[in-house]
Amino acid sequence: MKFYKVITYGCQMNVHESEKLAGMLEELGYKSTDDDKKANIIVFNTCCVRENAEQRALGNIGALKPLKKRRKDLIIAVGGCMMQQNGKAAMLKDRYPFVDVIFGTHNLSMFKEYVEKRLQTGKSLIKIVDDDGKIIENVPKARTSYPNAWVNIMYGCNNFCTYCIVPYVRGREKSREPEEILKEVESLVKQGYKEITLLGQNVDSYGKTLKTPCDFADLIEKIAKIDGKFRIRFMSNHPKDINEKLIRVMMSSDKICKSIHLPIQAGSDRILDLMNRRYTQEKYLEEVKMIRSFYPDFAITTDIMIGFPTETEEDFLETLKVVNEIRYDGAFTFVYSKRSGTKAAEMDGQVPEEVKKDRIIRLVDRQNEINREKSLKYVNEVVEVLCEDYDSKKGIYQGRDDRGRMIYFTSEKDLIGEFVNVKITKTGGITLHGEII
Ligand code: SAH
Ligand code: SF4
Ligand code: F3S
Repeated sequence: MKFYKVITYGCQMNVHESEKLAGMLEELGYKSTDDDKKANIIVFNTCCVRENAEQRALGNIGALKPLKKRRKDLIIAVGGCMMQQNGKAAMLKDRYPFVDVIFGTHNLSMFKEYVEKRLQTGKSLIKIVDDDGKIIENVPKARTSYPNAWVNIMYGCNNFCTYCIVPYVRGREKSREPEEILKEVESLVKQGYKEITLLGQNVDSYGKTLKTPCDFADLIEKIAKIDGKFRIRFMSNHPKDINEKLIRVMMSSDKICKSIHLPIQAGSDRILDLMNRRYTQEKYLEEVKMIRSFYPDFAITTDIMIGFPTETEEDFLETLKVVNEIRYDGAFTFVYSKRSGTKAAEMDGQVPEEVKKDRIIRLVDRQNEINREKSLKYVNEVVEVLCEDYDSKKGIYQGRDDRGRMIYFTSEKDLIGEFVNVKITKTGGITLHGEII
């Protein structure tokens, strides 16, 4: 028996790409393991969106040196966004000569061949291509997130937000043909998946590269017509592109979750402009108003970054103001990290570390407070929950409602992958606990 382990850094897109790497390895006869010592091949699927993601991957790759020394037959492969950056693959090989296979994001679907080649020749190989080429369909996938299944609807990004490395390592935006997406979702629903999460860096610009027009609202309308009981989620939307047509379609089907991830990044118009986000605070607030005019309880979550170059206390207070006004259902908060090759890395006025630290603490505290206040209001609500997981240590099930709220509950029988009605009975600060009714 041969075993593999895939270690993933970064976003959901990468989580799904790791499922493809695992799928290719399973075609080669490998089975999954969590144990480094048992693995015959260990793959790192890296991220470079922030400095700490890179540092963590480098640290963990380096830590394998003694194991590799003892077991010469162990194959170590490193791929993903970090390797796609200029010069990074060569840097890695220089620092860690024991790495066997290095590949980037544009040639992920070639991974199986690279492993076969390594096995045949016994020689290490570095394969990075600049061309982001065509979309490759039908890459095998070993899915790991049942009852959810990730589905790519597009690849790459054309937005070039000035802080962001993604467009440089993922190439230009390309949409999958709607027929391919529909075929995949139909097959997943038939296989018993209960939640489909559509992935794209900016789902609102879906369809721009297609010959036959089909925008994102058209696409989800078609997906919602597929027979069966399942939920549709997606991420991320972009405030510069989101529109009323999308919200109308979202309201038209119970399958489409009433939850939207709309990253604001910053509240100050001056900072938004420097970030090249192409919307203002006013436009963003109007969009939230439009969404809530359809359904006041629409869940809205976001990404917020503090410490972008030149950000002043006044700018930061604009961000806090928006957070207070919108009262998000959840926020991922980040400290700006300088990425070489991006426009923002060249800007004057980098914000000192201690100022960043102070601002992120104030932001996180405020959002936590909002989460707690909101949680208290949910007590006694009855919601439909899709049961996702079981914590065997605590003996507790968990699942989310259509607005994305995680709820914990107990049950005698195995409920993973089932829809159950749960009454929220208490909160533990931010967490929600309930009873099946
Ligand atoms: N395409 C998505 C986001 C992808 S990256 C979108 O536009 O919303 C996920 C999040 O990482 C971003 O929303 C941003 O908040 C954060 N991020 C990106 N680059 C960063 C950087 N250089 N430093 C800190 N956070 C960053
Ligand atoms: Fe990065 Fe902006 Fe593209 Fe999102 S939209 S991936 S933040 S460049
Ligand atoms: Fe995702 Fe990180 Fe790449 S956030 S797109 S894995 S740089």
